Amino acid sequence: MQTLHTVAELRQWSRACRRATQPPIGLVPTMGALHAGHASLIRVARARCRHVAISIFVNPTQFGPNEDYACYPRSFEADCALAGREGADVIFAPAVEELYPAEPSSEIATFVEVAGLSDRLDGASRPGHFRGVATVVAKLFIASEADLAFFGQKDAAQVSILRRMVTDLRLATEIVVCPIVRDSDGLALSSRNAYLTPAERIQALTLSHAVRHVEELVAQGERRSSVLIDAAREVFAAEPAVCIDYIELVDWATLEAVETAAPGTLFAVAAYVGATRLIDNTIVR
Ligand code: PAF
Repeated sequence: MQTLHTVAELRQWSRACRRATQPPIGLVPTMGALHAGHASLIRVARARCRHVAISIFVNPTQFGPNEDYACYPRSFEADCALAGREGADVIFAPAVEELYPAEPSSEIATFVEVAGLSDRLDGASRPGHFRGVATVVAKLFIASEADLAFFGQKDAAQVSILRRMVTDLRLATEIVVCPIVRDSDGLALSSRNAYLTPAERIQALTLSHAVRHVEELVAQGERRSSVLIDAAREVFAAEPAVCIDYIELVDWATLEAVETAAPGTLFAVAAYVGATRLIDNTIVR
């Protein structure tokens, strides 16, 4: 008989027992409006897991009062077709009341909040956003009992917050981060790209141009945050129709600003193209 002292040891034992009869389950959490970025997550999940579930749920608690919850693109039939083609076994598409039971009061009483990190980057301009994300993802992890969950690096701040949540709550689901998928001209794929007019679609390239410029400067040896951020600002200055929300160099784990880029540093931008808020990033390798 073994004696175990840590949650990690207990989990490892429990997983090994389960896997002997049940190979790993993968979960790809999404809000639908699936595109090639989601398809790549499903493919990676398919390669790593015996069973793959994808969730499609436009999560109301991660939208602010003046944000696009009501008009967020919804394309359930097309999503099912894409998920099926890429090899998902199950689509979990709950109603709002399934994940947020309203009884006995209409107020939601229970949230998961990763303090500190949730107020940085997108959390600074979208108060409550990451609380909504952490809450729904915790519910999805608990409900699915997934061994692995797959997220895109495009939502890099979200990844940091969810990793911290998994660590702090000792959740059993391991987070796997997959590379950003870009259109041929460099624009990072996002369900919100559907909002862009043809003119805005061109203006939106400013984000990926800024990211690429910073990558080039880092490759040439530049490490000073102030220089890298100023260089990115200059790229945005050439396209005044695009309005910067933030440009930051932060530690990817803590989301705290750094003065010098190092391996693991996250360079992240968010900007408004018309009414559409887009994000992009790169990790210093
Ligand atoms: O990245 C997303 O699409 C959402 O934030 C997520 C993780 C599915 C939670 O609603």
